[in-house]
Amino acid sequence: MFPPDFAWGAATSAYQIEGGWQADGRGPTIWDTFCHEKGRVFGDQSGDVACSSYELWEKDLACIQQLGLTHYRLSFSWTRLLPDGTTQHINQRGVQYYNKVIDDLLACNVSPMVTLYHFDLPQALQDQGGWVSPGIATHFDNYAKFCFQTFGDRVKLWITINEPQVCAKLGHEDGIHAPGLKEKGTTAYLVGHSMLLAHATAWHSYNSEYRAKQRGAVSLALNSDWFEPLDPGRGEDVAAAERELTFTLGWFAWPVFVTGDYPETMRSAIETRSKELGYGGAPRLPTFSKSDPTVLGTADFFALNYYTSRKVRPEDVSGQTLSMRSDQWAEDVLDPSWPISGVPWLAVFPHGLRKLLNYIKDAFNDPAVYITENGFAQVGPLQVEDRQRCEFYRSTISEVAKAVQEDGVDVRGYFAWSLLDNFEWADGFSVRFGLFHVDFSDAELTRTAYRSGREYASIISKYKSAQS
Ligand code: BGC
Repeated sequence: MFPPDFAWGAATSAYQIEGGWQADGRGPTIWDTFCHEKGRVFGDQSGDVACSSYELWEKDLACIQQLGLTHYRLSFSWTRLLPDGTTQHINQRGVQYYNKVIDDLLACNVSPMVTLYHFDLPQALQDQGGWVSPGIATHFDNYAKFCFQTFGDRVKLWITINEPQVCAKLGHEDGIHAPGLKEKGTTAYLVGHSMLLAHATAWHSYNSEYRAKQRGAVSLALNSDWFEPLDPGRGEDVAAAERELTFTLGWFAWPVFVTGDYPETMRSAIETRSKELGYGGAPRLPTFSKSDPTVLGTADFFALNYYTSRKVRPEDVSGQTLSMRSDQWAEDVLDPSWPISGVPWLAVFPHGLRKLLNYIKDAFNDPAVYITENGFAQVGPLQVEDRQRCEFYRSTISEVAKAVQEDGVDVRGYFAWSLLDNFEWADGFSVRFGLFHVDFSDAELTRTAYRSGREYASIISKYKSAQS
């Protein structure tokens, strides 16, 4: 069903699992600050301890082996390596930790995919203005080069930035992620722009300084739902669904894979709205200048995080003030035939992934695709026998198989989110995405496979035996 060398993975991120927030010289990040402010996160929880993977890495490795993964996607904590975000001070204990993780994975025949930035900006860089400060692309590039230099002999798959759209919007527009800003309709576009430039700068560094020797591949992970018109026969709904797809995925994928610039529909929607509201400042969506690094072509594969689908119709925004939402004027409607997982935003529609994969093939020049995240949330009392999630994985993976076999989409790998139950950002530990249950009430933080973990292991094992 899947091509040879297909990557079967699971994913995690540093802040969500590592804990050890002050251990061995790690510097503070914006998520430490955010969580330690009252009222930001469910139950005022934090990633101070989380799954304690910094201490308990061997337990994670045992889970990885139990699943039979061929790949494991983790992220590096920038401040565990560079406590103030700069290469002025390198924390050797952090280097040792990630060296051990990488070496242990390779010794078990598991290839690491490493994300450099998964939402956890060094607080010291936030204090200088964070993602909108002029020096941020250079700081990120220095960090990336340090990682390529130190770990690139063994890490061959790199993600620079995870979900720039989420960082920009949830962190700077909606204020529900760190750094908690609500600067509606302005800052998120600047953050997105900075992230694209930081990504492109790091990709060029890899390309010119490391690629020939290390022979790896570098991309950025883009999140998108699948959006379809509420009424496919209604032109306005079709246009609204396209607008939302453009504002979510096209915002980053269009510059990187198609033109080197933002989609025209996005720029004109934002300009129209600025005029309607008499907004007189500089264009809210920045322009790329000649002195900027070229963004076009700075991805060696397409990394997609997919969770859910939406039906869309236009939204009447006439009474609304400046915001990204009013720029898009598209309203999401959940299809009642799609079951809801444990969180209200995650409606289960595996076929949406197949559609999105086809869209990516057509719109972005048939790239090699890794599905770098996909998963199903559970809340409430523990259900180790999580049959609904088993069904979710079976049907999602079968949609991926159809996209490969019947539609010719070049999918190279699938990473389940997540290996372990972990710190689910603003939802704290109340929402569980793991293939392994973590008992957060027990000092040992015991990991136990869910039924879905065993199910995923059996899918992988069938694939492996068909290959041999
Ligand atoms: C993020 C993960 C998160 C997951 C589920 C993605 O947006 O990359 O960190 O846990 O979605 O919400």
